[in-house]
Amino acid sequence: MQRVSLLLASALIVTAVSAQRAPQNLQVFPKDTPRSELIPMMRDFSFGTGFRCEGCHYDAGGEGNFRDIDFASDANPRKEKARFMIRMTRNLNEFILPMTPNRGDPPVQITCKTCHRGQAKPLLLGQDLLMTAHEAGADSAASRYRFLRDRYGMSGAYDFGEWETNELAAELAEEGRTADAIVIYELNAEFHPESATIQGSLGQLYEEIGDLDAALRAYEKALELGAPARLIQPRIDELKGEG
Ligand code: HEC
Ligand code: HEC
Repeated sequence: MQRVSLLLASALIVTAVSAQRAPQNLQVFPKDTPRSELIPMMRDFSFGTGFRCEGCHYDAGGEGNFRDIDFASDANPRKEKARFMIRMTRNLNEFILPMTPNRGDPPVQITCKTCHRGQAKPLLLGQDLLMTAHEAGADSAASRYRFLRDRYGMSGAYDFGEWETNELAAELAEEGRTADAIVIYELNAEFHPESATIQGSLGQLYEEIGDLDAALRAYEKALELGAPARLIQPRIDELKGEG
């Protein structure tokens, strides 16, 4: 939805803004950069970071009307942050990356989207969910996973492949948050029902918390899904002996 409104907005912009006067307050781009060059870059900023124009520019009316945006003003503090980001990206492309040993040809350019992938804060899925788990617990992290998956699904903004989330669960387990790790593995199993790895890991964690029935079920599933029997069978035998 956000993407559609961005598109609509930017279609209007080209006509609306190009009718206005020449840029007044350029500090990073050359002062005489024509609007015809500036506006496509601004559209890239919007798509790259997910901010609409008024995300970085001062909305003098405060009601989200495009006509009220004062593009030359620096009153929105995010604009100065964005200036820093433009300089940083330029430094990477012009000074840092050219020093890469045996650089590829043609050379790859970094853009806003390389890091931001359409997000204000360029967090990876695992980073984002780990923060949520620390702040609000694993159930909140699981809800956030579902929300992000619904909203950004195929956009490439987040990696919903099996391993990004397995690594998150493993991190929680290492921190001693076994119950949280189980919540995350169970969530991941829902979206990756074919994964023997997830079931094997669940087996271990259920054993750790003493839920031996759940451990047995997870190991049996792992075996069914093709986990190596030499690793899993002894666990199953032992649990059956115990049970
Ligand atoms: C991520 C932040 C960001 C977004 C989003 C953004 N801009 Fe900008 N814009 C800037 C920055 C930073 C400058 C100042 C560049 C400089 O100092 O050289 C600027 C400058 C401008 C200027 C020149 C203003 C002047 O008179 O000096 C115009 C016009 C403009 N932007 C239009 C837009 C439009 C239209 C959109 C929406 C499609 C947009 N911008 C989205 C950051 C942004
Ligand atoms: C090398 C990676 C990288 C690139 C390239 C990059 N950014 Fe960023 N950007 C970040 C990081 C990391 C943050 C978050 C900083 C923090 O708060 O810790 C950020 C934050 C921002 C913010 C503040 C977001 C907020 O929540 O207010 C804006 C605006 C922004 N970037 C704009 C841009 C624009 C525009 C470009 C392209 C010209 C760009 N960035 C390129 C890494 C990058």
